Parts: sequence; structure tokens; C-alpha cells
Amino acid sequence: MSGCLMNKSTDISRRFWNLPQKAGEETKREQTFIDDIIAKAHIERLLLENLDGIRTVFDGGAGYGRFSIPLAKRGLNVTHFDISEGMITKAKEIAEQEGVIDNITFVHGALEDLTAFNDKQFDMAMSFDAPISYTYPNHETVINNLIRIASKRLCISVYSRLAWTYLFDPAQKSKYILDKNTSDPFARWTLDHGLEQLEGFKPDMKAVHEFFETGLMEKMDDTVSEYDKGKSPWPVSYSFMPDELTKILQRFGAKDIKLSGPGALSRTVPGEVLRNIMQDEKLKMAFLDFCFWYDSQPWCLGMSKDNLAAIADI
Ligand SMILES: C[S@@+](CC[C@H](N)C(=O)[O-])C[C@H]1O[C@@H](n2cnc3c(N)ncnc32)[C@H](O)[C@@H]1O
Repeated sequence: MSGCLMNKSTDISRRFWNLPQKAGEETKREQTFIDDIIAKAHIERLLLENLDGIRTVFDGGAGYGRFSIPLAKRGLNVTHFDISEGMITKAKEIAEQEGVIDNITFVHGALEDLTAFNDKQFDMAMSFDAPISYTYPNHETVINNLIRIASKRLCISVYSRLAWTYLFDPAQKSKYILDKNTSDPFARWTLDHGLEQLEGFKPDMKAVHEFFETGLMEKMDDTVSEYDKGKSPWPVSYSFMPDELTKILQRFGAKDIKLSGPGALSRTVPGEVLRNIMQDEKLKMAFLDFCFWYDSQPWCLGMSKDNLAAIADI
């Protein structure tokens, strides 16, 4: 991989995540999709169970502050780091409303360059919902640097290769839509036309094998060519195998690594039942607790919904 292509990957991510609508779209995910509710609840629980001895936190690719702001509200000192100015502006707005702006240092930058941060500068480094995957082909160096700047703990979630079964079921997102009367354009289209896609649908086995061999949904050259034409393609994203992620973490000195697959149980639950659960607050909380336990079992982590989570000591 040439240095030029490596930097292109960062440029592609920067352009995509700086699209004006991105920050607003991200803030609406849990209002629209049940799999996002489950993933957020899982990561929140994972964090809350592992905050002993943690005072300072680096959140890499922190978005609109989904996790940085709740941690700041618990009195932790958080560095909120992101490649997108739009995300940072939105996060500042929310932090201001929540009264925690003084607990957060906002830094605009790319995970591919963490030279501004010292070794062991933070108690914990974290990065959720795949920012590391977007740094392909630099993902291993990024993990190494996140471990370098943390003294006690690392907590991340990345794309999971075994979870990407869209290639067999392009309509799978439809069962995760919270409200069938939604006006969200993507959710609306998925409900109205998603199932039509299944009629006569046959998986492309060549694409399936290519993805499962490389961990890449799109060829890097194709994405670069779209970018060079002035478009804003989805960033080149790397999906990890669970055992591969464990080996990378071990190689860079992480210990006591625990992987989990947020959303695994939900794959077996019909959409109507998921929607019923979400409408009953008490049942919802009990279900999310059970999901956290179930999805933390190592035997099902490959079947997570998109992301693979990892927590480790350093
Ligand atoms: C799906 S969002 C997740 C945000 C947040 N971690 C969360 O869980 O809500 C991905 C975030 O990663 C950021 N990002 C993508 N590539 C990045 C990079 N190379 N360096 C830093 N941030 C990056 C995006 O701007 C976006 O805010």
C-alpha cells in the first residue's frame, strides 16, 4: 500500500464525516433503530462496569458525544477527538446544554496521527462504533497508538466481519425500525421497499467470498476513484475477525481481553417482538440487561449486529 493511498483513506473519511447532514443523522439513530438502542446500551454498561481507577479518558472518533458526554457527566475528564468539525460543533452544543463543557477538551484531528498525545497520558482510551475500521489501512497502527496513550484500559468497538450478513439479506435492517410510521427517509425507504429487494434476490457468492477474505466491502481503488471524481463515498472500512482482533490487541500489550457481540441475541428476535419490547419501558430495560449478558458470551460474539466490542487492561 503506497503512502499516498494511506493518506487518501483519511481524506475520504474526512470528507464523508464532514458532510453537513452527518452530525444531525447520528443524533437520531436511537430514535429510529432498535439495533442502535441495543448497541448503545451494551457499550454504556461495558463502560460503567469498567470505570474503577479511571479519571481521564480519550475518546477517538467521539462523534456527537454519545459516550464522551455521559462520562463527563460522571465527573471524568474527557478528551473528545474527531475528524469532523460538524460532529465537534454538535457535541459542544450538547455538552453546553448538559452543563459539562468544562469537563471536556475538544480536539479536531485524525486517529492516524496521535503524535500530539504522550505515552500513558490518559487512564483509558476508547473508540466506539467503528472509527478504527474507517482508518484502514492504518487500523493496526491506530490500535497500537490508542494503547500507547492509555495507562490502564482500552475499550473499543469495530466492524465485525462475521456480522456482515447483509450480503445474504439486504432487508435485515427493516426489522430494527422502531416506529413503522417513521418519517426518517432511510427507514421509510427500507420499510416501503426493503422487502421488495428480496423477491428473486440471489446472493453474489463471489462478493461474499471477497468480503470474507479481505474484510473490505468495497475495493480501495473503487472508493478512491469515486473520491477523485469529487463524490463523498462511504469511507473504506475494515471488518475484523474476532480472533484477529484479539491477536492484534495482544501484540500491542493488551491483557485480560474480553470481546462481546452487541446485538447478537436481537438477530434471533422477530421485528414485531422487538418493537413490542421497546414500547414497554420496564420490559425494555430487562431485555437490554439480558442482551448485555447474552451478547457478552464469547460463543455468539461473531454474530453481533455490525460491531464487535473489546475491553482490555493495559
Ligand atoms: C459512527 S460515528 C461514531 C461516533 C461515536 N464514537 C459514537 O459511538 O457515537 C464514527 C465517528 O468517527 C469519526 N471518524 C471517522 N474517521 C475518523 C478518523 N480517521 N479519525 C478520527 N475520527 C474519525 C467520524 O467523524 C464519526 O464521528
